[in-house]
Amino acid sequence: MTSTVLVAGSANLDFVVRAAHVPAPGETVLGREFRTFPGGKGANQAVACARAGGAATQMLLALGADDFAKPIEASLNDAGVTLHTVRDALLPTGTAFICLSDDAENAITVAPGANMALQPTHLPPLDGVQWLLLQLESPLATVQAYAASARAAGVKVALNAAPAQVLPAELLALLDMLIVNEGELAVVAGNPPDLASGLARLDVPCVIVTLGARGCLARIDGQILLQPAFSISPLDTTAAGDTFCGTLIARMAQHTPLQQALLAASAASALACTRLGAQSSIPDHAEVEALLADASRLPGTDAHAALAAWCAL
Ligand code: RIB
Repeated sequence: MTSTVLVAGSANLDFVVRAAHVPAPGETVLGREFRTFPGGKGANQAVACARAGGAATQMLLALGADDFAKPIEASLNDAGVTLHTVRDALLPTGTAFICLSDDAENAITVAPGANMALQPTHLPPLDGVQWLLLQLESPLATVQAYAASARAAGVKVALNAAPAQVLPAELLALLDMLIVNEGELAVVAGNPPDLASGLARLDVPCVIVTLGARGCLARIDGQILLQPAFSISPLDTTAAGDTFCGTLIARMAQHTPLQQALLAASAASALACTRLGAQSSIPDHAEVEALLADASRLPGTDAHAALAAWCAL
């Protein structure tokens, strides 16, 4: 392995309850089974990157000195991620409270805890790192400082702008790749009237917009690439976006052409939707390759046409 990806960001223990539907504001829903899963957008993306194979994966994360940290560290270690851990003695490990509905919808509230302890000084040496992958469950000033350090060191920077927040132009200017879903695009691009205007407002060399069951699109150096989604019956979409990001960056670190990297990321993300939990749902390289090798499962021309019509670009 010659390529290295560093993921810097959040790690949470997910508390998941399944219920008939996600509660509306003010509503109480009687759920069913309860489970905990290692999660957090950063840690999920690190696991996806490591399981994608082909690139060594490191992660910078902050955890509390408590028992919630243990399953998270075990999951990352099992996936083969090399950890740079900041241990905060005062803050609890991050947690996320997830209601998962029978139609695979979810609602997530994060208590960031120790994730907010990540500081600019915690960034490890970037020697040998090709890509830095960031999210927004860490302090924004820290995210921007990491992006600036990476840019200065010649390391490519990808940001998954989740959870959505308005981003300073100075941060956008440091990015090689921005990955957003439709809701995040609306926030980051200032409520554009349509997809084309949203893309036009973002001065980042490569912008990828994930569109759930429709697929995704990428605008790279003025060119548009479309990748329809694989058809699946979803069980739990938690970490589907994280699986997409981690797989995509693993492929980018190996210099895979973007269209092929989008296909692999879409396959991994589809598989993740068919399983429960965050890191527990993320497929490995062999599973993704098996799906890609099954011609009957590849998205067809109809799916491509439907995606193109939706995007109207
Ligand atoms: O993207 C899914 C993740 O969001 C969950 O694992 C949860 O921890 C929150 O960070």
